[in-house]
Amino acid sequence: MALVALASAKGSPGVTTASLVLGALWPRPVLLAECDPAGSDVAIRMTAPGGQPLNSDRGLVSLAAAGRKGLGDDVIMAHSQQLDGGLDVMIGVRSPEQIGGMGGLWEPLGISFNQMFSADVIADCGRIGPASPQVPVVQAARLVVLVCTATGSSVAHLRERLSSLVHHVDAQLGVVVVADPKRRDGVKQVWSVLDAMSVRVQHRWHLAYDPAGAAFFDGRGQGRLDRTPLIRTATDIAAEMASLVSMPTQHDFDMAQAAFPLGDTPYSPQADWEGGQ
Ligand SMILES: Nc1ncnc2c1ncn2[C@@H]1O[C@H](COP(=O)(O)OP(=O)(O)OP(=O)(O)O)[C@@H](O)[C@H]1O
Ligand SMILES: [Mg+2]
Repeated sequence: MALVALASAKGSPGVTTASLVLGALWPRPVLLAECDPAGSDVAIRMTAPGGQPLNSDRGLVSLAAAGRKGLGDDVIMAHSQQLDGGLDVMIGVRSPEQIGGMGGLWEPLGISFNQMFSADVIADCGRIGPASPQVPVVQAARLVVLVCTATGSSVAHLRERLSSLVHHVDAQLGVVVVADPKRRDGVKQVWSVLDAMSVRVQHRWHLAYDPAGAAFFDGRGQGRLDRTPLIRTATDIAAEMASLVSMPTQHDFDMAQAAFPLGDTPYSPQADWEGGQ
């Protein structure tokens, strides 16, 4: 299946919230993987079924220790857990200090996420810069989505990050603008900034800025979630993203070949996909 990486250039535009809401609405089986080196928010904000606390010892760090011998679906899922509501999550590091224990595992991890048989993976990669340890996860993704707000500074940082990212990533690129549903003019301004860039951002989405809806993904929700602007806008975005990444590409093959050489065996991801139907 496929890896979708969500990240931000600067600030806290709502990457974790977007990852959670998209994961909750994803039309296929999906795992939300917290790959933000700044530390897990899901473990703090969300609960396991029945309102129980999540197990913060089970996640990326335990996977790093266990996964040196291989990162198949069974190993990945053994280090994941379910949120109340049913979304499977892999809890990220508790603090940036734990990143050291990940060693060189980011690259195989990204590739394994992109090649899971049983689920797509949405990776919350947090803020991304050139020296960020989680860059290999972004590079392995089939779709890379930067999240920003419709403010001048957020868009300026988005531009700068896109200009750099395009040299390191050859996946499809998308941008999610988190903005008040009434502020379509602000969103259009973001699109015109992207139009003026040489970097091609193929996919553009407007996710509602909706404090009442977002509160559900912050452990503070009240009332009905399904009618919120956040859910309404995210439903279409999740469907479009899932459809975009539904076919393996040459990029996936190249990444896998680089990480796990297959020798001389000729391999076509397209043929493999069609053969498996
Ligand atoms: N679509 C939204 N509408 C309203 N509020 C939002 C939305 N998305 C996020 N928020 C709020 O903004 C704050 C930051 O959100 P979130 O943690 O998702 O951002 P982030 O980009 O992951 O931040 P960080 O860089 O700290 O990881 C939270 O209080 C959250 O409830
Ligand atoms: Mg976050």
